[in-house]
Amino acid sequence: MGEITNVMEYQAIAKQKLPKMAYDYYASGAEDEWTLNENREAFSRILFRPRILIDVSKIDMTTSVLGFKISMPIMIAPTAMQKMAHPDGEYATARAASAAGTIMTLSSWATSSVEEVASTGPGIRFFQLYVYKDRKVVEQLVRRAEKAGFKAIALTVDTPRLGRREADIKNRFVLPPHLTLKNFEGLDLGKMDQANDSGLASYVAGQVDRTLSWKDVKWLQSITSLPILVKGVITAEDARLAVHSGAAGIIVSNHGARQLDYVPATISALEEVVTAAQGRIPVYLDGGVRRGTDVFKALALGAAGIFVGRPVVFALAAEGEAGVRNVLRMLREEFELTMALSGCTTLADINRSHILTEGDKLRPTPRL
Ligand code: FNR
Repeated sequence: MGEITNVMEYQAIAKQKLPKMAYDYYASGAEDEWTLNENREAFSRILFRPRILIDVSKIDMTTSVLGFKISMPIMIAPTAMQKMAHPDGEYATARAASAAGTIMTLSSWATSSVEEVASTGPGIRFFQLYVYKDRKVVEQLVRRAEKAGFKAIALTVDTPRLGRREADIKNRFVLPPHLTLKNFEGLDLGKMDQANDSGLASYVAGQVDRTLSWKDVKWLQSITSLPILVKGVITAEDARLAVHSGAAGIIVSNHGARQLDYVPATISALEEVVTAAQGRIPVYLDGGVRRGTDVFKALALGAAGIFVGRPVVFALAAEGEAGVRNVLRMLREEFELTMALSGCTTLADINRSHILTEGDKLRPTPRL
């Protein structure tokens, strides 16, 4: 392996190393994958308006998320089934996140349980929740996460059914037989069986509660005292509802373009969500973040932090924990450099005037 100089390079290595079924599951998006490309393309259409002759000899990237201090506004999104990528799976991700002083979000569909991940040592961790039809199962799982020291629930709200991921359909995707969805082990639930299409899509159709609605955010609040992040908001209307529901924060996400195709890139939807939230709760973003410049652009548009998904699983596949550490290191260094070259020394310095979006170009003069 030659020297890795950016997080995107891990994808080609993962493709070489992984069985096709696993790689395709990690890499693919829904249907035409228009949104998958757009999640990246939209970042490339945002340009910088850097400020010069500012003392950038000291740069502070630290921030707080829901009151938890972290080293940088770069966190790890929940991605399912990480042991398919590497035998250490979620353990490696948890350790790498702790070492970097940032937050890991563990998927409901992890191949390691909440208790196992907690056993890797101290670290600030969030738990991503899929709400199953069987609410007893959900209650139990949330309690276990709470007991294991997880600090928040990221409630995924964009998956009443699984998006149509054609690679998984062609591959008849199922979890390899030596792995299980560890958080549900021993429970009397259906397994992810070989189906005529994606085994995961059938599993979701059987288990996940399609009736989920805003009143269930209240229900979730009644069973846990953990703060709730609503993951999967991409409109101003839903941002307002999230604020009213008592959510502690919003994650602008299109699920890595794996659910509804032809939704806008998250970076394009971010500003309307931030405006609608009116500063009442923090807004985070995931989707297509691959460069420190992307992190800066999201913050300039009002995000309080970002999460990365695929780079983590690809790096895991290539190099295990060392790979995930390297992803976090590269993103951190690129972000620090972007801050320096834009004339920002703290996150509070990053503002809307540091970037130029396509919408801005239609205006006669930059806003000051
Ligand atoms: C995901 N994502 C996801 N989201 C979630 O809420 N629960 C989950 O179990 C998963 N699993 C999952 C697996 C894989 C392989 C991918 C790629 C994504 C979505 C994830 O949390 C996040 O929204 C996106 O991955 C962010 O986009 P990028 O960084 O992958 O472009």
